[in-house]
Amino acid sequence: MKLRHSNVNSVQETLKECPSPLVLVPTMGALHGGHLALIRAAREMVGPQGTVAVSIFVNPTQFDRPEDLSSYPQPLEEDLALCEKEGVDIVFAPEIGTLYQPDHSVLVTESLLTKHLCGATRPGHFDGVLTIVLKLLNIFQPNFAIFGEKDFQQLALIRRMVRDLDAQTEIIGHPTVREADGLALSSRNRKLTPIHRADAPRIRRALLAAQSIHQTGEQKPQVYLDATRHHLSKDAPEDFRIDYLQLVDSESLQPLAKVTSRATLATACFFGPVRLIDNIQIRD
Ligand code: PAJ
Repeated sequence: MKLRHSNVNSVQETLKECPSPLVLVPTMGALHGGHLALIRAAREMVGPQGTVAVSIFVNPTQFDRPEDLSSYPQPLEEDLALCEKEGVDIVFAPEIGTLYQPDHSVLVTESLLTKHLCGATRPGHFDGVLTIVLKLLNIFQPNFAIFGEKDFQQLALIRRMVRDLDAQTEIIGHPTVREADGLALSSRNRKLTPIHRADAPRIRRALLAAQSIHQTGEQKPQVYLDATRHHLSKDAPEDFRIDYLQLVDSESLQPLAKVTSRATLATACFFGPVRLIDNIQIRD
């Protein structure tokens, strides 16, 4: 069977011969340990007889900064070799023209969960994410699709889209994979300077510090936010900046007045031009 497919017809022809269950792992490539954990979890879910598909597509419609898109790493040959090594059955790595018509004019827009967090600071980003994910779900019609909890808002939005638009795929969340020092794996980590890379675990430490406050029974969001902000900013590099820091309900993603229900603390921080995100459950 041919591993790599670059157009929709070819992948759909191959899918006809693939045994179910089918699980899809959507990615933008530059595969790292986080992606590989998703791929391994996918294999675990469907067993040796099932089908694991990975999509690799740097989706232009979800980039809000042109320089972020143009500098996004695209080591396709390495990615294909990794997929082969992991026993992936199908890789869908389309050219942009095969997925978007030049005059494409329909987007998936979510209007509530996108009000905060990355949705507030990256206008249009999630329209692009939801549109491409729905297109991939339509093309593959997989039984399952796996997404990482590192992109907490993305995962919540995809679950909401599947629910509200009756997509027939079960969405599976996968825990965040981290470096030994706590930094969440990300394709963007390779763009950090050595100084920034050494400093970046401050994000995880700040979130852990906030999580430990919950044991005291504290319910005021401001106490969590102040403590996190303090840890994030203390002795930080000059070009470090907090993009957002919010404590939200884990499902509705609305800011909390009191930490009494499921709560997630989420942040995005810039190290120079590199933007990193992370989150932690404060309360299940
Ligand atoms: P990308 O950033 O390539 O991530 C692909 C998948 O890997 C996402 O589900 C993401 O949450 C997951 N992932 C990334 N880093 C992870 C980590 N450290 N631990 C666990 N999972 C991790 O997210 C996207 O691509 C795109 O927005 C996409 C959904 C493919 C749509 O274009």
